[in-house]
Order: sequence, then structure tokens, then C-alpha cells
Amino acid sequence: MAYSTFVFDAYGTLFDVHAAVRKHAAEVGPEAQFLSELWRAKQLEYSWLLTMMGRYRDFWSLTEEALDYALQRVPTANRATRAALLDAYWTCDTYAEVPELLKQLKMRGARLAILSNGSPKMLAAACQSAGIGDLFDDVVSVDEIRVYKPDPRVYDLITTRYRVFPEAVSFQSSNRWDAAGAAAFGFRTVWVNRNGLPDEYAEFKPAAVLPNLGGLLALG
Ligand code: LAC
Repeated sequence: MAYSTFVFDAYGTLFDVHAAVRKHAAEVGPEAQFLSELWRAKQLEYSWLLTMMGRYRDFWSLTEEALDYALQRVPTANRATRAALLDAYWTCDTYAEVPELLKQLKMRGARLAILSNGSPKMLAAACQSAGIGDLFDDVVSVDEIRVYKPDPRVYDLITTRYRVFPEAVSFQSSNRWDAAGAAAFGFRTVWVNRNGLPDEYAEFKPAAVLPNLGGLLALG
């Protein structure tokens, strides 16, 4: 394998953040999908705004606030589902191909890490509930430096920790904006385009685009 360090974004890449709303769709109501998308969009917007303002609050509080906003914006949504929806961040589902891929990489001697906006507690709980915690050498949270992706200081947490150049790291994210940040930083970046979305951020191209993480081994 050409790369020995593989770093993964968490939400949307390893863990399915929309699974909770799908699971509870009937109770949430007819606009469940819109609620899920708005929740995620607001959670990210808050992270970007805080970093631009030089402020920080952890990702858990942003996740709660974003859901509360989304529940207000979508009047048909059943607020009684709030706790069950939030629970999704603690008991995450991984995408189907994830556990096997991680095991294969590990067997080949790769170093594996998560680099995520998630708070350390959220990430530890999600890894444990998904049964993939033991496969990672490190679970790195932006909480260490209190700035959010795609600030370059976040990606630098990896190069500093491992004393490697950015181009020695393969970084995987399903979030195109995160892939843009990682590509700008200099990582070999793989965009996992799970939903067949159109490309954007043309000046910050990923090295490869995959429909899921299954094809990662073949990239080397
Ligand atoms: C993360 C967000 C971007 O895990 O999904 O960092």
C-alpha cells in the first residue's frame, strides 16, 4: 500500500447521521427528511460561524441547538422524538462496509485515526456502540484546539501528532467541504460521495471520488 496513515471523518463518513431520523421517520412526521437535512446543515453552520468569530462551544451543544432550531422550523415534526433523535449521536450506525474495510486496513499494518468535529465523549460513545473503537490508533477531536473544520489547524493535528507531511496521509470524508479543506491542506483526499451529489469547490479537488469506502483498498 502506498499510504500507511488513513484518517477518517466521522459523521456521514463512518457514522450515518441520517439513520436516526429514518428510523423514527413515522413518529417524526411527513417532513422527517427535511428535518434531518436542516438539523445537519444548522449544526455545521454553527460550527463554521463560531470558528470565524474566534469562539468555541463543543459539538454536542451545537447538535442540540441545531435540532431545537429544526424542530421549530418544521411545525409538523413531533417534538417528543427529540431525545430519540439526539441519541443517534451516541449510538451510531456505521455504514455497512466500514467495519470490514477498517479490519482490512489494520491487517495490512496501516495506522488508522478519526479526525472529527465531534466532542471526545460523543466519539468515544459512537465508536464503542458501533464496535469499531479498537481498530483506531487515535480518535482525534477538534476539541483539543477549539476550532472547527475546515480550519487548517484541525488537519494539522494529524501531521503534528504523527510527524508526517500532509501528502503522506490519506484522508477520507463524505463531506465535500471537509474534503476541500483537507485537499487545501495537502492530504491525499478521498471524497466519499455516498449520495451521488454534484461536485463543488473545484479549486480544491479530491484525489479520488468513491461511492462508498469499499473501494479504498484498491486505491492503495
Ligand atoms: C465531523 C463532521 C464534519 O465528523 O461530520 O467532523
